[in-house]
Amino acid sequence: MSSNLNFENTDTILNEDRLFPPKSELVENANIMAYMKSKGFTDYDAFHKWSIENRFEFWEDMAKELHWFKPWEKTFEWTNKPFFRWFVGGQFNIVYNCLDRHMETPVRQKVAFYWEGDNGETRTLTYEDLYKLTNRLAKGLQNLGVKKGDRVAIYMPAIPEQVAALLAVARLGAVHTVIFGGFAASALRERINDAGAKVVITADGNYRGGKHIKLKEITDEALEDTPTIEKVVVVKRLSNDVPMQAGRDIYLDELLADIPEDTVVPCEPMDSEDLLYILYTSGSTGKPKGVVHVHGGHAVGLYMTTRFVFDIKPEDVYWCTADIGWVTGHSYIVYGPLMNGATSVLFESTPYYPNPDRFWSVVEKFKVSIFYSSPTAIRGLMRFGEEWPAKHDLSSLRLLGSVGEPINPEAWIWYRKNIGHNELPIVDTWWQTETGMILISPTVILPLKPGSATKPMPTIEADIVDKNGNPVDATKGGFLIIRHPWPAQMRTIYRDPARYETYWDTIPGVYFAGDAATRDKDGYFRVQGRVDDVIKVSGHRLGSMEIESCLVSHPAVAEAAAIGKPDPLKGEHVKVFVTVKEGFEANDALANELKQHVRSTVGPLATPDELEFRPTLPKTRSGKIMRRVLRAQELGEPVGDTSTLDA
Ligand code: WTA
Repeated sequence: MSSNLNFENTDTILNEDRLFPPKSELVENANIMAYMKSKGFTDYDAFHKWSIENRFEFWEDMAKELHWFKPWEKTFEWTNKPFFRWFVGGQFNIVYNCLDRHMETPVRQKVAFYWEGDNGETRTLTYEDLYKLTNRLAKGLQNLGVKKGDRVAIYMPAIPEQVAALLAVARLGAVHTVIFGGFAASALRERINDAGAKVVITADGNYRGGKHIKLKEITDEALEDTPTIEKVVVVKRLSNDVPMQAGRDIYLDELLADIPEDTVVPCEPMDSEDLLYILYTSGSTGKPKGVVHVHGGHAVGLYMTTRFVFDIKPEDVYWCTADIGWVTGHSYIVYGPLMNGATSVLFESTPYYPNPDRFWSVVEKFKVSIFYSSPTAIRGLMRFGEEWPAKHDLSSLRLLGSVGEPINPEAWIWYRKNIGHNELPIVDTWWQTETGMILISPTVILPLKPGSATKPMPTIEADIVDKNGNPVDATKGGFLIIRHPWPAQMRTIYRDPARYETYWDTIPGVYFAGDAATRDKDGYFRVQGRVDDVIKVSGHRLGSMEIESCLVSHPAVAEAAAIGKPDPLKGEHVKVFVTVKEGFEANDALANELKQHVRSTVGPLATPDELEFRPTLPKTRSGKIMRRVLRAQELGEPVGDTSTLDA
């Protein structure tokens, strides 16, 4: 029984296989249970088996809950593998389902967002407020020439205008590409140029954790070489003086000045498969890839997972602490909750500012009932001790969630005990930018095991295989794959379909996630981490190549290799190995300069914690640096097959 556990004794929980059964009232009232019962099931495994055999019926049922301008003709088409289409022939706009639909119901007057700014200032927006703001912004963008198919970059703090910006762009049938506010100018420039964005929406800066973020100045630097950008819309967040370029830059309040409050710009009816957004993420090799998501199927997947995983009920107050610059924010701050008519919290600050009880004070203030955060945040807060959450009334909470990286059982147990009143379920949700929606996660009806994302969502055929796709002893681990497409899955990599195809031909015919995982005798999955050169720092996704190419752009650097090293707080941190060019001295001053160079070029989150100079780096005979060897040496693990190593 959970109440008898010695939570302080972490040794005993490293090999965690205790089961935490759900409370019966949660199970009885669960959204997913209502659906299961409608199909004649009360057992999840039996239902899951049915959902695989009847996947189209399941997805049609979910799609029918949403508004379609024109119904689809064919649920799924996979003739041109690995490219597929869902809800073929349908006309749809995700924003209609987030906003317009609710204008006909009592949701209109319901709170869409409680916003809390860095310094504790608050704003409350109803669905009607958000609808009006979105429509006016859409009109303003239209006046700047934005139309269906155009790309609009969004580089903003977490303020209500950011949410409205995504919705306004998508309302017009244009395509948004949101860039995380922690990325530096060259990372912003690279993404704007790949997307060919016409407009960028930014702000005159903000404070995060008391630190001034100069978004407009960074944008200006990025725009020194972005030929496609015509206009810059600047939201006044600080109302401070920032440089404005005549003819190019316009303040949002000026753009909206002549646009009446009740302006309506109808949602553009989009084909189900038309682009909704491009979100750049790091891969194993090369530059960041533009993951493409569409309107129709993507919406259906988000609607379903928000409803079933978070079990959202009309009276809930839901808070996802992610940033809208990452996929978690796109899916589970903006689109999923709004389609479900949920009341959410939008938060601009950090867990530690001004004190490490900021999260808990926000939970108490807004009576948050569903709280979705990251293992890094939980581990970070654990270090400050149990007294910080204990200062607050957290009784409004009824469900906790985790995302972005494996959650170690110690953190899971601490989270449940200190935040979850020793009894709340934790939904450990495994998914990716590319998957668009949560794929492996508990719903509130499943018994939990600390550190396990439990079981696949309905219709999702997850498996553990070897590199040829053959079954392995899953309890020992292997590659995590998914056998059949789902509606919210990425459709391609923007302007690089060949790169998309690698997801399906690394292990032929199945979706290769890039993660290693185990599955135990009860069918519970445990995702261990990446098997490629993706590094997860505090749950943020970075590519080795991005850091390396930044380093070699410095005049002193001949070669560089970046690896992720296990980190008790951040999950992983970046370590780089550098060889210097003739005439440069490898010393501490240079090491600091190089770390700073990564910080200012890629962004603070990519800053290496460790930098080691080496006379040479291990390479294959064809000259490729073997990060795998460096990582193994670093971790004291066997180096493995080095037959291709250039001795
Ligand atoms: C990791 C974030 C273990 C995993 C939504 C995946 C996780 C990568 C979990 C995708 C989890 C995400 N348990 N690992 N619950 N959730 N990951 O694209 O390595 O930023 O491949 O999407 O995060 O990161 P991304």
